[in-house]
Amino acid sequence: MCGIFSYLGNQSNAGKLVVEGLKKLEYRGYDSFGFVEAVPATSSGQGNGKLKLTKKVGKISEFPLSTFYFPISNLALGHTRWATHGKVNLRNAHPHLSADGKVAVVHNGIVENHAELRKELQKKGVKFASDTDTEVIPNLIASYLTPRFTGGLREAVRRAAKKLKGRFAFVAAAEGAEKLVAARSGSPLIVGIEKFYPKSDDRLISKIDGSAFFIASDVPAFLKFTRDVVYLDDGEMVEIEPSPKNDHFHAHFFEIENGKTVKKRVISIDWKSGKAEKGDFAHFMLKEIFEQKETIERALNQDERQIEKVAELIRKSFGAFFIGCGTAGKVCATAEYLFAKIARRHVNVIFGSEFDTQEPFLTNKTLLIAVSQSGETADVLEAFKIAKKRGVRTVGVVNVEGSSVARHSDVVLPVNAGMEKAVASTKATTAQLAILTLLAYAVAGKLDEGKQMLAEAASQINDLLNPRYSEHLEKIARKIKNVESLYIIGKAADYPMALEAAIKLQEVSYIHAEGFAAGELKHGPLALITKGTPLIAFVPAEEYRADVLSNVAEVKARGGRIIGVSAENDELFDEWIRVPNVGNAQPIVNIIPIQLLAYHLAVLRKNNPDLPRNLAKSVTVK
Ligand code: AGP
Ligand code: GLU
Repeated sequence: MCGIFSYLGNQSNAGKLVVEGLKKLEYRGYDSFGFVEAVPATSSGQGNGKLKLTKKVGKISEFPLSTFYFPISNLALGHTRWATHGKVNLRNAHPHLSADGKVAVVHNGIVENHAELRKELQKKGVKFASDTDTEVIPNLIASYLTPRFTGGLREAVRRAAKKLKGRFAFVAAAEGAEKLVAARSGSPLIVGIEKFYPKSDDRLISKIDGSAFFIASDVPAFLKFTRDVVYLDDGEMVEIEPSPKNDHFHAHFFEIENGKTVKKRVISIDWKSGKAEKGDFAHFMLKEIFEQKETIERALNQDERQIEKVAELIRKSFGAFFIGCGTAGKVCATAEYLFAKIARRHVNVIFGSEFDTQEPFLTNKTLLIAVSQSGETADVLEAFKIAKKRGVRTVGVVNVEGSSVARHSDVVLPVNAGMEKAVASTKATTAQLAILTLLAYAVAGKLDEGKQMLAEAASQINDLLNPRYSEHLEKIARKIKNVESLYIIGKAADYPMALEAAIKLQEVSYIHAEGFAAGELKHGPLALITKGTPLIAFVPAEEYRADVLSNVAEVKARGGRIIGVSAENDELFDEWIRVPNVGNAQPIVNIIPIQLLAYHLAVLRKNNPDLPRNLAKSVTVK
C-alpha cells in the first residue's frame, strides 16, 4: 500500500510533477498525502536551501493543483498514504522529516523493529513528532549525517536500511544535497528514466544517464514521461544525482548489504497510459467491468507452449498449490472444482497468508501457482520466499508486467487485462478465471476444447454487457440499497464465486455480505434469514440445479427475498438476473452481474466505488 513518487531532473516544477504523479497512484492509498520540495537557495533569495513540506488529510484527487504553491525546484518526493501505524491525521502523513528537519523520507511498508529503534534514537535525544513506524527512518539517516561523516546521504541511507526489519521501500532526500536515494526490501520501487542514454542493445548497466529520473511504487505514475524503467530488486538501492558537468543526471545501483555496485537491466514497457483513463465512464470500476467484453478473450490469447508447459508441471508435481489473496484467493478456490471436474485432478488451494503453514510438505516436487493482479501482494511474495527455500517450482498468473511475482516465477502466464485501477478487482478476476479454466483443460489434454468453450463464453459476455443490463442491475440495487445484510450462495465452482460476490459487495457497498456453499445454509446461517433478507443464488442451468433450488426454497420459506442468477427464471425468484448458460465457464459469467450490482449499490449509497474506505489496491504489507 501507499504510493511513492519522486522526481529529480531538469525541470524546475518538481512539486507539480510529484502531485500529478501521486494523483495517478491514489489507488494505492488515499487517507492522506504529502510531498517535500527541495528549494535551492538562490542569489535572489527566493529559496532558502531548505526542504519545503506540504501535507494534507484526505484524497489527493480532491485537491486541485491550484491548492498548492510550487516553488522553483527540480527535486521532490511525495506519498499517498494507507496507514498501518498511527492514525490518519496530519502529523502521521508522509513525508516524515528527521527531528532536525534535514532529512525527508517517504515510505511504503512496515518497519517491524520501529519501537526498538525509536527507543535507541530517543536515548540520543531525538524527539519524535508522529506515531508512525516510518519516522525512525529519517532520524536514523540523520543520526549518521554528522559533520565528520564522509559517506554522504547514500551511505547514511544504506546503514539505516540495514538496521530496518520488515518489508519496506523508501526514498530519502537531504537538505543541501541534490540527490535522491532509495532502498527496497519487499515493497515495490521502480525507477523511470527520461531520455535514457546511451541507447545501446546492451541494457544491463551499472550507471544510467538520463535527463530526469522518477522513483515510484508503480509505473502508471510516470508513463506520461517515459517507458524506460529499472525494477529495483529486494536488497538493492539507487542513488540519483547530477552528472559532474551538471548537464544531466545519473543513477547508480548497489546492494544494501555491502554497498557493492549492481548491474541493472533497462526495460521498455509497453503499457499504454491512455488505457488507464476513465473515458466516458463515471468511475474506473464501471469502465473495467465493461472492458470484460474484450479482456476475457485477450486472456485466452496465451502462448500455447507456456500453457502446455504449466500443464505438464501440474501433471508431474506432487502437490500443486494455488495461492492468492482476497479476490485472487477466490479465483484460486475455483481451481479446486474446475480441476476435479475437467482434469480429474486434485489441487490444493490456500490463501497467501496461510501458505507458510504448509512448509513441512514442500519439496522440489511441489508446484506453486500464484494468482495476483498486482504481483506485489506481500502475502504472496512471502509464499515465494518459502517456496524458494524449499526448491518449489513457481508459476505466476499475474496482470502487472514486470511485477515481483512476474519476475520471481519460473513460468508466467500473463493475465493481459490491462491496467486495473479501481480497488475492487473485476476484469482481472474474470481473466484469471479464464486462464485457470484453460489450464484445467490443458491438464486434461483438451486445450483446444477449452479454448473453444471459453471463446464462446467470451462472446456471450460481449452480448450481455450492455447499458440495459447495467440498468436492470441498478433497478435491483435500488430495491435492496438499504438492507443491513445480504447473503450469496452457490455450489461447486459457484461457491467460491459466492465468496467473491461477498467481497465485491462488502468492499464497495459497505453492506454486510456473506457467501456460503448452498447446502451449508441449513447448518446454521439460515437463522440469519428474516423477512425480506436478500439472498443472491447462483442457480446452475443443469447439474445441481435441483439441489440449489431446494436450498433457495428453504430461504424463501423463511421470508427471504430471492435474487436468482441463472440462465432460466424460476417461480422462487423475486428478481431474476439472466446469465447465459456457458458450461464450465459459468463462474466467469456469474460474477459479472454481481460486480455491476455492487457498483450500483456503491453509487446509490454515495460511496466512491473506485476508492473504498480503509482499503488500497495493492496490499504490500503483511
Ligand atoms: C479485490 O477486489 C480486492 N481489492 C482484494 O481482495 C485483492 O484481490 C487482493 O488484495 C489481492 O490482490 P492481488 O490480486 O493484486 O494480489
Ligand atoms: N507504515 C507506514 C505508515 O503507517 C507506511 C504505510 C504503508 O506503506 O502502507 O504510515
